Amino acid sequence: MEETNFIKRQNNLLSAIEEGIVIIPGAGLRQKSHDTEFPFRQNSDFKYFTGFNEPDATLVLKKSKEGAVESHLFLQEKNPEMEMWTGIRLGSEKAPEVLPVDHAYPNHEFSKRLPELFRNHQNLYYNFFNQDLQKSVTKTLQSLGGKRKEKFHSPLHWHHLSPLIGMLRLRKDKNEILAMKQAANLTNIGHRAAMALAKPGVNEKEIDQLLNYLFSQENGEGTAYDSIVAGGKNALILHYINNNQILNDGDLVLIDAGAQVNTYAGDVTRTFPVNGKYTQAQKDLYQVVLDSQKLAMGHMKIGATLKEIHTSTCQALLKSMMDAQILKGSFDELWEKDAYRAYYPHGTGHWLGLDVHDQSPYLDDDLNEITLDEGMVFTCEPGLYFPEGDSNIPKEWQGMGIRIEDDILITQSGPENLTRSIPKEVKEVEDACNEDIRSILEKLSSPSLLS
Ligand code: GLY
Ligand code: MN
Ligand code: MN
Repeated sequence: MEETNFIKRQNNLLSAIEEGIVIIPGAGLRQKSHDTEFPFRQNSDFKYFTGFNEPDATLVLKKSKEGAVESHLFLQEKNPEMEMWTGIRLGSEKAPEVLPVDHAYPNHEFSKRLPELFRNHQNLYYNFFNQDLQKSVTKTLQSLGGKRKEKFHSPLHWHHLSPLIGMLRLRKDKNEILAMKQAANLTNIGHRAAMALAKPGVNEKEIDQLLNYLFSQENGEGTAYDSIVAGGKNALILHYINNNQILNDGDLVLIDAGAQVNTYAGDVTRTFPVNGKYTQAQKDLYQVVLDSQKLAMGHMKIGATLKEIHTSTCQALLKSMMDAQILKGSFDELWEKDAYRAYYPHGTGHWLGLDVHDQSPYLDDDLNEITLDEGMVFTCEPGLYFPEGDSNIPKEWQGMGIRIEDDILITQSGPENLTRSIPKEVKEVEDACNEDIRSILEKLSSPSLLS
């Protein structure tokens, strides 16, 4: 088979090990209620190495001491009766033709074939936290241990696979970046439509549903995570997903929502006035958060770390809170006791990719911060959350939560804000709030809106 992106990724993984066998299970279906399941979501690692989207499949990669590599896939067998209920299955006969694997077998052969695949390998790589897999591995090794008369190696050196894959997933290849740009484009449409739809009397759930609909346009797969549509003081609940309250005149609404394309996530937050015009107090606080984001972006370059970006953002927000007399004392003393955390309790960014909080490490093996490099994607999401009844906070800012979040790709020529088209400056946001929702929906079929 020609070297596809998936084979390249498999080879990248195998070149990081000397010899051994690697097991990467896909996801299964999860029960929602009796006889019904949640919509299927593929395991991100499995998706990364195969692109395959059926439940209950397992990838096994092998590398010999001499460097020869092989890939084996176990998957659901064809079964016309079951396919009539749950949909067409690829099956083991077709799989090697269309998937990046050399051999494929039906799942019922897994326990019979695994001992054969293990034979003469010394190293085994898998996710230690997968308990079902742990059981299969133990059973297989026990069965091999019983064969005393034969002389062969079995893989008794075990290695946790997730950190190795996490390192590979840190740098996105061109296909991943393409999917993330498409997710950003759909996310742009969703946020613009949300700004246009919101007005006093509209329920948060109407916006929630609209986002889901728009994120499913073209090749969109809906929302990458449960959207947060938080009117007024609901924005103070960081993971507010109830999304069922009426939006009120004079309030802000915080929307944290991102589209998913080819399992890759967008992750964007905007905070805008329900009635389309920021009050002076809202504008002032919004500008504080926006300025801190701009400052953070100035630190994004090859060689910098997410921690440095976070530190400079926290310092900027702390200074702003000192200027507003919310935090009183010397900068050093307030910094020393993390005083800003009462109002800015979360990080400034996280890796973004197949998972919205992408599963890649933040520290290397020597416990040094991972430094930014070409192809890495992460969020930048400063915010301020001021509770009601906190007498340190000016009255007009109490009950207000503001976050601004964008998705950043590091390139040779600097940071590229993938979500820059989503209105963010005060005037841009107010203009977008005053757009007609019908004209946005009518324009949906226009390629310029999606590209
Ligand atoms: N939407 C989750 C986050 O911003 O991290
Ligand atoms: Mn977010
Ligand atoms: Mn985020």
